[in-house]
Order: sequence, then C-alpha cells, then structure tokens
Amino acid sequence: MSTTSPKKRIALVGTGGRSGMYSHTIYKDFADSTELVAVCDISRVRMAQRLKELRAETGYEGEIPMYHSDDFDQMLDDVKPDEVMVCTMDCTHDDYIVRALRAGYPVSTEKPMTTAVDKCDRILKAVEESGKPLRVTFNYRWMPPNSKVRELIASGVIGTVRHVAMTYALDTSHGADYFRRWHSEKEKSGGLLVHKSTHHFDLVNWWCDAIPERVYASGGLVFYGKENALKRGDDQYTGYDRYTGTDSEHDPFRLDLSENKYSKGMYLDAEEETGYLRDRNVFREGIDIEDSMSVIVNYRNGMTLSYSLNAYSPIEGCRTVFYGDRGRIEWAHFGGSHLILGQSEEELAAMQEANKGVEELTVTPHFKTTEHLEVPHGKGGHGGGDIKILEQIMMPEPPEDPLNCSAGHEQGAASVMIGIAANQSMKTGQAVQISDLLPGFAEGKMSMSELS
Ligand SMILES: NC(=O)c1ccc[n+]([C@@H]2O[C@H](COP(=O)([O-])OP(=O)(O)OC[C@H]3O[C@@H](n4cnc5c(N)ncnc54)[C@H](O)[C@@H]3O)[C@@H](O)[C@H]2O)c1
Repeated sequence: MSTTSPKKRIALVGTGGRSGMYSHTIYKDFADSTELVAVCDISRVRMAQRLKELRAETGYEGEIPMYHSDDFDQMLDDVKPDEVMVCTMDCTHDDYIVRALRAGYPVSTEKPMTTAVDKCDRILKAVEESGKPLRVTFNYRWMPPNSKVRELIASGVIGTVRHVAMTYALDTSHGADYFRRWHSEKEKSGGLLVHKSTHHFDLVNWWCDAIPERVYASGGLVFYGKENALKRGDDQYTGYDRYTGTDSEHDPFRLDLSENKYSKGMYLDAEEETGYLRDRNVFREGIDIEDSMSVIVNYRNGMTLSYSLNAYSPIEGCRTVFYGDRGRIEWAHFGGSHLILGQSEEELAAMQEANKGVEELTVTPHFKTTEHLEVPHGKGGHGGGDIKILEQIMMPEPPEDPLNCSAGHEQGAASVMIGIAANQSMKTGQAVQISDLLPGFAEGKMSMSELS
C-alpha cells in the first residue's frame, strides 16, 4: 500500500499481548503509510520485549522511544502523535483516553472502552469538551459473517427485530485463561460481562440498530475458584497458587510461562519489575468475577435481548437467533478457541481450519422455507476482523465503511453500560436503568446510528 501523503504517526500505550497486533502490523502491512513513534507501559521489560519481537518479526530496524507510564504526558509533548492507541489493562483505559484527548490528540482504544460508570462519564465529557475523536476498536463488527448478519437485518428480510437470543460459550482454554490473569479481578476488568461481553452487546446493538435501556442479570462463580474445585472433588488441582515452577504437571489447566519464548519474555521476565503473575491457578481463592451469567436487556425501541455467557465449556462458540416480525435469522458457530497464548499466525490458521465445527447462517421468513446461506470468511486474527479495523486506523485514507462498523465514544458507552448495569443488577438483584446510572446519555435518541 503506497501513498505520497505524510505517514500517520501512532503512539501506543500498553505493550502486552494485544499490542503486537497494532505494532507489528504497522511494519508488516502499513509501513508506507504509518509509523510507530513511541511506546509506553508500566513495564520497561515488556516494552523492550515488544520492540524486540517487532524487529524479529518485521525486520524493522529503526529506533522507537520507550516511555514509562509516569511519563505519558511527556511522551505526548515529545512526539506529538497523530493518534494515541490505548491497549492497557481495561480499568486504566479512561486515564490515558482522557489525558490524550484533553491534550488535543485523537485516540483509539481497545475494548471495553472502560469498566465503571464514573470512568465512562469522564470519557464522554472529555470527548465533548476537547472536540477530539475517540474510536472504540470493535473488531468483531468487521468479521465477515458478522458484517453479513448486519446486511441481512438491514435488508428487512425478517422485518423489525423484536427479540434476540444469544448464547456465548468460552472454552476451557480461552475461557480458563481469563481466570489466570488480571481479568479475574472485577476492579481491573469489570468482570466478563464488561471485558468480554462488550463485544457481544455491541454486536447486538449494532446489528439491530438499537440503544439499550434496562438490564437485569444473574450470575456466579460456579466452576473456577478453589471452593468449587474442592466441592467437585478436584482437590489435586488446588495445591499451588500459580503454575510455572510448581508441582502442577498433572493439571490440564496448567500454563507454564517458561515453556514459551514469548510468554517468558513478556510476562515471566517482567515479574520482578511489576509483580504481575500471568499464570495464576484458576482454582485458587480470591477470584471475584463470574463464570456463568445470564442477562436480559430491554431496548428503547421495545426489543429484548436474552443473553448468556459460560466460561468453562468444552467447545467455544456462539448461537444468536433474531426473531423479527417477518421471520427469523440464526447465526451459529462452534469450534475451538480462536486464541492461545503465543500462537503463531500459521498455528492460528491451522486451528481455525481444523476447528471449523458447526457453522450455520440461516434465514427463515414467515411461511417460507429456510435458506442456508454461505458463511463468508476472512484471514488472520479474529476471523479477519483485525485487519479490517487496522486499515481504518492505519491508513490516512481508509476504505469506505458502508455498514458503519466504525464506533465512537457513545457507541462504546452503549455497549459497556450494559455490562456495568448487569454487574449492579447481580449485586442488588434488581433491574437497572442505564439512564439512572448515566443521566442524559443519548437523550432523545432511539437508534445506534444516531450515536457517534
Ligand atoms: N479486541 C480484541 O479482540 C482484544 C483481544 C485481546 C485484548 N484486547 C484488549 O486489549 C487490552 C490489553 O489486553 P492484553 O491482552 O494485551 O493484556 P496484557 O496483560 O497482555 O497487556 C496489558 C498491558 O498493559 C500494561 N499496563 C497495565 N497497567 C497499566 C497502566 N496503568 N499504565 C500503562 N500500562 C499498563 C501492562 O504492563 C501490559 O503490558 C485490554 O483492554 C483487552 O481488553 C482486545
């Protein structure tokens, strides 16, 4: 991709697992149009490892300055980026988003936009007051089958959607991994209804062009955690707080950070500096997020979503059924995890091929036979969604976005507020109005397409 316009200059904050998708792709696919002008993190070890890998994978030899997170504002002053990419732990997104916007820089943030009401409010105010844009990188929208579902619903083939039933299952590889990491602490991730379900809630909001209003949820920790393991008689998996360097070879949930060059450099070698352990026992005490959750969401336009998330399933996937007033669409895909620590692109592609499993997209208009549609596929991370969103971020003149896959701060809030309200509902046992948590949010608006 070559261009004569000046390169887009990106500064990246958060240099952990996800950040490689941004930094490496710049020098693999967008080097003519984009450059990485600085990286920032709490961990110097992780920043150095990220840049080492970037060089090894892409052959890039230039210098990229590293800034400790204490010097984030200094970094902005020094490098004056065209855009700041936020890829840190979820509960810290708001801090970097707000500081960058208020300093006058456009921002893209990883999902979830944030984890709590007060943080969401700060972000919305910072966008309004700074006049600078915030993009939320909902890569799931860009996956070809999800885009196809959006097209189908917008075509009116099943009329107006009144009811959506979505069941999402995370397996004992991908799902379990959340319970080893910072994600297992609600204060840091918001729990899975914020961290993970923000993708799913966003898809439903966007697919059906609807704004959520009232949320009821119920959930608990019923599989992971020491108490559950002991209750089941799985005592043999509970005798160590982490996996690496402990007597846990018999444990199918074991993750040994020293076995893999990537996880050793990125996490094990950084432990002394930050104290963060990435391989904690999923059957330990102190996990305060849920692994089994059910949520009902009522939308402003009268639509209802019934949603469930399970994080200890033997197979991973999702089934979504849309009931319109003129028919039904079903989109189901089940197979293996799409994501395993340290996996190469070749391994990912091979696993995606082997684990195709169930894949079904059907449309049944009222009083007609069911049509089985071909499921479109993309290449690379997240079923081809990653590269498409990267084009939007990296290219000075990105491709057209006819399905409005790009999302701003209000659409980011619409999704994350479902999870935040669900957390409150699980605590109190009561349904929660999003407008009570965030008064004035999207006032007078009825559809997602009216939100930025
Ligand atoms: N869109 C997707 O499909 C997708 C996939 C994976 C991760 N993510 C998101 O990417 C983000 C990063 O996740 P990850 O998997 O890379 O996690 P990670 O733990 O591997 O990396 C997080 C990084 O943030 C850094 N960090 C933590 N606190 C910080 C702070 N206060 N200031 C600066 N840096 C800080 C850590 O040192 C680490 O390098 C998360 O928000 C996650 O939700 C999105």
